[in-house]
Amino acid sequence: MAGEMNKWILMVTTRAPTNIAVIKYWGKRDEKLILPINDSISVTLDLNHLSATTTVAVSPSFEEDRMWLNGKEIPLSGGRYQNCLREIRSRAGDFKDEKRGIHIKKEDWCKLHFHIASYNNFPTAAGLASSAAGFACLVFSLAKLMNVNDDLSQLSAIARQGSGSACRSLYGGFVKWAMGNDLNGSDSVAIQLARETHWSDLVIIIAVVSSRQKETSSTTGMRESVETSTLLQHRAQVLVPGRILQMEDAIRNRDFSSFARLTCVDSNQFHAICLDTNPPIFYMNDTSHKLINLVERWNRHEGTPQVAYTFDAGPNAVMIAKDQKAATHLLQRLLFYFPPPPENEMSSYVLGDKTILQEAGIQSLNDIKALRPPPEVNNEASTRRYPGDVSYFICTRPGKGALVLEEEDEALIDTQTGLPK
Ligand code: DP6
Repeated sequence: MAGEMNKWILMVTTRAPTNIAVIKYWGKRDEKLILPINDSISVTLDLNHLSATTTVAVSPSFEEDRMWLNGKEIPLSGGRYQNCLREIRSRAGDFKDEKRGIHIKKEDWCKLHFHIASYNNFPTAAGLASSAAGFACLVFSLAKLMNVNDDLSQLSAIARQGSGSACRSLYGGFVKWAMGNDLNGSDSVAIQLARETHWSDLVIIIAVVSSRQKETSSTTGMRESVETSTLLQHRAQVLVPGRILQMEDAIRNRDFSSFARLTCVDSNQFHAICLDTNPPIFYMNDTSHKLINLVERWNRHEGTPQVAYTFDAGPNAVMIAKDQKAATHLLQRLLFYFPPPPENEMSSYVLGDKTILQEAGIQSLNDIKALRPPPEVNNEASTRRYPGDVSYFICTRPGKGALVLEEEDEALIDTQTGLPK
């Protein structure tokens, strides 16, 4: 390794999106390698609204691997971080920067240490899958920094070892995680089914549901389901294989009716497995159920699905609308039933893509107050409103996969100190 003294710092910054599964991953056949018991399919969400940004820096002056998440130092000793670091280091390539006199041979990477800074552009506490974006971004940045030649699919097998769902966050659009057969996990990788532009009509509205309860983590929850739920075995072995094929067809043909039916059925079945777990796990709450009722009642009234819903390991609803018009009508319904509490401001209640709010003709809290019950309600009880049950909404769309940020001012680490800015 040659360089002008030990002064140099090399760094790379990347951004990776979150994803929402429409056919869920729930259950591992290998806990250490994170190998699932079934295939899953997801939609990648727009980076501008839900993503992780990570800078990885390397320098001969760094004495140990260190990481800061949202400004706070966190330990890197966990097995999942260590597995990702080890896998990437083992695939590193040579690096040469003649101008700065830096030359790192591939075998030298294991002697160097990293400083890693990462932040999420959405509240971590909201219970939105932050580990998916986080691990995808970490692996992608490290791979770029160390000149790893692997393609995205091979990198996905490394991100998978950080968090299963992370393997689907490297690609944009519609992504399948093939469970694979190999004992070493080499074929348990993500592949892109279609780019985000293939079905750009879709609009996604997330209801971040207020909850006081600390939820069981996905990792613990799925372990308990594997150990105790018989419904889980039936779903993974008998039902999912056919559902995956149907979902692939629905995506290929932009067949929203099938897409919505499969998405809702699979989400409800995943939560049925949680109930079938011993002791039972409750991820959805009353507000989640009200959101399901709202969508189901409207879809039935229209005769054909306008919106699909899906829930991960928490009470937040992810609703996927057929197009901008359906999203506009959905948002009007959502804001009728779930207005902000009085002290709230509009700008912090509907986040993300504001065009849907504009199209819905809602500019102020008074506009929300003036909303009328939707035409499909047929009794007094269904017109009750629930201010405060939803913390806020995020409007977004299917989006791109992980990307490199070239601008130096986007880096999260200071080039002089090697510490977070
Ligand atoms: C309900 O990927 O968070 O969101 O692999 O243990 O880190 P680990 O679990 P994680 O589980 C995600 C579960 C899910 C469904 C899904 O994203 O497919």
